[in-house]
Amino acid sequence: MPFILPDLPYGKDAFREIISSETFDYHHGKHHQGYVDKTNNALEDNGELSGKSLTEVIKAAREAGEIKLFNWSAQIWNHSFYWKCLSPDRQNPSGKLAAMIEDSFGSKSDMLDAFKEEATGHFASGWAWLVLDGDDIKVTSLHDADTPVVHEGMKPLFTLDVWEHAYYLDYQNGRGDYIDALLENAVNWEFVAQNLDGKGVSRADQDG
Ligand SMILES: [Fe+2]
Repeated sequence: MPFILPDLPYGKDAFREIISSETFDYHHGKHHQGYVDKTNNALEDNGELSGKSLTEVIKAAREAGEIKLFNWSAQIWNHSFYWKCLSPDRQNPSGKLAAMIEDSFGSKSDMLDAFKEEATGHFASGWAWLVLDGDDIKVTSLHDADTPVVHEGMKPLFTLDVWEHAYYLDYQNGRGDYIDALLENAVNWEFVAQNLDGKGVSRADQDG
């Protein structure tokens, strides 16, 4: 069965000026759809991977050194996870998540500063991540399509897409403004808290 473009968990105009519906038209409707189409085309003649889940395809492509298939399939997963990390309703971390953020960073504000520094400082295209490392929460980033799916022990909690296509229509070259706006107003902290179970990878997987 071919992979599909997951529906957005909110309307395209739900974020108003923070993320415009035009950005969703391109980012979800063109870029994410393009990764789905290219992955499906590549798998049409690949009997070995037919029927495998998305995360199995990503891992197999990485192991086999099939760089294009890895990039396309990893970008399906990365974007599927990213949409879930966003919420048009402003939220705050609470409970166990809030306590872990304080333990790991001192405060939510210190954590957001560290995340922003990593995300703005990341050279060229990629993804900034909050990941679970034992009882700690850490900030990191990965280049291009690289993904926690293939990094043993890197349990994803939250991501921001820092490819230019994620923000250029709304913020032009202002990556920092995009990051500030989303961190302040659009993080789905309930989803981040769910991922403290270490099963974040499974939440953007799909059957093949
Ligand atoms: Fe993207």
